This record gives sequence, C-alpha cells and structure tokens, in this order.
Amino acid sequence: MSNVVVVTGSAGLIGSESVRHFAALGMDVVGIDNDMRSYFFGKDGSTRWNLDRLTSEVGDRYTHHEIDIRDRDGLAALFAKLGKNIGLVIHAAAQPSHDWAAKEPFTDFDVNAVGTLNMLEAARAHAPSAPFIFTSTNKVYGDTPNRLPLIEQETRYELPADHQWHGGIDEEMSIDQTLHSVFGASKVAADVLVQEYGRYFDMPTAVFRGGTLTGPGHSAAELHGFLAYVMRCVMEQRLYHIYGYKGKMVRDAIHSHDLVSAFEAFYRAPRVAEVYNMGGGRFSNCSHIEAFAIASEITGLEARTDYVDQARTGDHQWWISSTARFEQHYPEWKLTYDVPAILREMYEANQDVWKA
Ligand SMILES: NC(=O)c1ccc[n+]([C@@H]2O[C@H](COP(=O)([O-])OP(=O)(O)OC[C@H]3O[C@@H](n4cnc5c(N)ncnc54)[C@H](O)[C@@H]3O)[C@@H](O)[C@H]2O)c1
Repeated sequence: MSNVVVVTGSAGLIGSESVRHFAALGMDVVGIDNDMRSYFFGKDGSTRWNLDRLTSEVGDRYTHHEIDIRDRDGLAALFAKLGKNIGLVIHAAAQPSHDWAAKEPFTDFDVNAVGTLNMLEAARAHAPSAPFIFTSTNKVYGDTPNRLPLIEQETRYELPADHQWHGGIDEEMSIDQTLHSVFGASKVAADVLVQEYGRYFDMPTAVFRGGTLTGPGHSAAELHGFLAYVMRCVMEQRLYHIYGYKGKMVRDAIHSHDLVSAFEAFYRAPRVAEVYNMGGGRFSNCSHIEAFAIASEITGLEARTDYVDQARTGDHQWWISSTARFEQHYPEWKLTYDVPAILREMYEANQDVWKA
C-alpha cells in the first residue's frame, strides 16, 4: 500500500506542518532535513527545536533522515528503499531568501534547482505515480508586480478597484524578462522542472507559488519569515528595520495549516503539471504599518522600528495572490486564518521563547 509520504524540509515551517497533517491522517512520514537553515541564517534560523518537537509529538509515524537534497545518490537510495510504498512527495526544502542567495549563488542554485531535479529524478525512477508537490514562490514573477499602477493610501499601497488583479494576481502574469533575484531565478528553474516532469513524463506534479507562508513553526530570522519576525521583534522589543516603500508594501499571508490542507486536496484528486498561486489573498493581507499595529494591539507593547529608505532588491511593493484557479479545481478548500489570527497564535505559541 502506498502509505508513505516523503517530506523534504521536514523540520521547516511547511515541512513540519505537512508531517503533522499527514501523520494525523494515518500515513507514515519520512522526513528529510539537514538543518541547513542554520547555515543560511545562523542560530535564530535553526529548525532543530522544531524537529525535536515533531519527533516527540508524532512518534513512530515519523522517521527522520539528515540527507542533504544535493546528495543525489543519498536521495536515490532512500527512494529505492521506499519504492512503491511512496504515496505522496512534498518537496519543501530550500534556500528560501532572496537576500541570502546573492552571497552564495552556487549554493543557492545547487539546493533550489539541482536539489529539486534530484528529487524529481528519484521520484520518476521509484514512485512516478505518487503526487509530487513543490513549494515554489511568487518571486518567480520577479519584480513585474512593481509595474502595476499602485496608488498610495494612508497605511498601504493598493491597486485601483477596477484593475483586473485587484482581487489578487493570477497565474497569467509573465515570469519572463523581469528582475528575479538570484533566488527567484533558482526557483524558476525548479518550478519549470516540476511542471516539465508533469508534461513530459506525465507525473502528477503541482507547483504551489506561495506568497508569504507563515505559522507558529517558523524559525523567525531577519532575512526570512516576515510575520513571525514582526511578532518576535515586538515581543523581544528588538529593533525591526523596515526596508523601503514607507512601510506600506503589501503582503498576503497564508497559514501553514491552510497551505497544507490545499496539499491534501491535491493529494486526494491529483492533476498533472499544475501551477497555483497560493496566499492569503484578499482574506489575509497587510502592510508593515498594519502588521505592527496589530502586533502592538495583541501584545500591548510598542513596536521598535526604524526605516531604511532603500527597498530590498526585487522586493514586491504589493502582492496579493489570486487563489481562484485552485478553488475552481478544489472547491471544498477554504482559507481559515487571517493576519490577526496568525499573529495572535504566534504570540500565544511563543510566550516562553520570545521574551524582552
Ligand atoms: N516562508 C515563506 O514566506 C515562503 C514564501 C514562498 C515560498 N516559500 C517556499 O516554501 C518552501 C518552504 O519554506 P519554509 O518557510 O518552510 O522554509 P524553512 O526554511 O522553514 O524550511 C526549509 C527546511 O529545509 C531545510 N533544508 C534547506 N536546505 C536543505 C538541504 N540542502 N537538504 C535538506 N534540507 C534542507 C532547512 O533546514 C529547513 O528546515 C521553500 O521552498 C520556500 O522557498 C516560502
């Protein structure tokens, strides 16, 4: 029986949520994570704490492997061993920061692009009919969203109400001829490869292009994990540097639970070579100014911020995803967490960890 789920990045935000979710459905989860996040972002970024939590919570249903996804032979050997027992692959291990990628472009590309190819080949050889889910990013659209005719409001930028993408940007936006950042480019390579293994080899692959993914499993670091880092800074009274766009840049945020329930919907009724934009959409989005106001209200603490009048290279000034395509294919799926609910949960989950 194909009752095994292989999850890469299993100690990370999306990986760990996937492990819990599918183990709770009675599946056996095989996780792959080498804590490379601590290499990328230092001690704050390490996901070891999350792995410890996971192994004690999930127990026997979870088996951990420290394999580096750049280790092609290691992955192939694991897939060969599990073989036809594999019923689902969730590939969420990555170098996730566009700022970091410019420091070590080879490492970024080897992890994001070549690591994904290693996973696809292992799956094609040993579990070609298992749905293969890949966590891509809205950074594949590069800085094209910054060409939208945005208008400035008191606390955020906005698209005019009559604009075709006011409700959210869909998958029709071009990913070509735009500034991606080195990270965006390595994710484009992976994104297109995952689509190709669907179209060319007829494997049930899906690309989920995330906006801001978030949840209590995030190891909040300055270079990655927007809402978690906002809450951490307010709770620890750390200074938060806002880079550019007057603190009015807009992000949509999707809770890891809502994303993984979308994975489950795809797993139950897989399709081939699909691409979905995935984010909080109009239901769950905020600017920096709005996020800090909500975090201050929840904690009763003033935020400490300063402003650097230089946006990060390639950063989106405004991004709200349209999830219409996914909802059309999977009408039973719904978003359940909005920004205040996400921040409140982070506050409650980290009372003992994030202290001033
Ligand atoms: N968090 C976001 O806002 C966001 C937004 C869009 C897309 N994504 C994408 O979603 C995916 C998951 O993101 P996340 O927020 O859960 O990231 P995360 O950093 O929390 O988790 C990724 C995990 O992968 C592990 N990892 C990294 N390199 C590895 C390697 N070479 N071998 C084995 N394990 C390795 C890390 O140690 C980490 O535990 C990534 O592909 C990311 O690009 C994230």
